[in-house]
Amino acid sequence: MSDAIRTRGALPGDHAAILAAADPWWGRSIAHILPRLFLDHFHATSLVAEDRSGLAGFLVGFDSPSLPDTSYVHMVGVRPDLRRTGLARGLYGRFLDRARAAGRTRARAVTSPVNVASVAFHRSLGFAVTGPHPGYDGPGADRMVFDLRL
Ligand SMILES: CC(C)(COP(=O)(O)OP(=O)(O)OC[C@H]1O[C@@H](n2cnc3c(N)ncnc32)[C@H](O)[C@@H]1OP(=O)(O)O)[C@@H](O)C(=O)NCCC(=O)NCCS
Repeated sequence: MSDAIRTRGALPGDHAAILAAADPWWGRSIAHILPRLFLDHFHATSLVAEDRSGLAGFLVGFDSPSLPDTSYVHMVGVRPDLRRTGLARGLYGRFLDRARAAGRTRARAVTSPVNVASVAFHRSLGFAVTGPHPGYDGPGADRMVFDLRL
């Protein structure tokens, strides 16, 4: 049965729950790309969705300190039983609305070429998709790159 989902700004203390969800939700080892610093230093621009069962989804992102026009989404994830209900689209929408209000005109993200769901999802949001870019994140770490004009 469906349950009310509440979205709120992330807090540093959300790191443990997000970390615990990462590998099972991705279906592979991914938690190592989300050290605590992301919640300690970027919680103000990150989002958490919850229902009665606990963590329902999350988005970890930030306004680039080095590229003043750009916001960057590092990770977005939705609990498997809630997929294809528009939750990730909603999290992204809220993140991008805030980014626009902060004067950002571009959003970027990257993913692994094996992540076909992520590619389809970002394409559905209107992101331009390029790649695979060989060695983008280092030797053997090819990446797909997503770019959206806000
Ligand atoms: C990718 C992910 C975040 C999408 O979350 P979601 O809440 O299911 O996505 P939404 O329901 O908002 O989907 C919006 C649109 O994206 C597209 N889409 C989403 N998942 C898709 C999939 N598995 N295959 C094809 N298209 C997909 C569809 O066009 C969808 O619209 P529709 O359902 O009306 O057809 C989710 O599958 C997930 O958590 N995957 C594991 C973690 C991950 O890979 N994250 C992304 C990389 S950081």
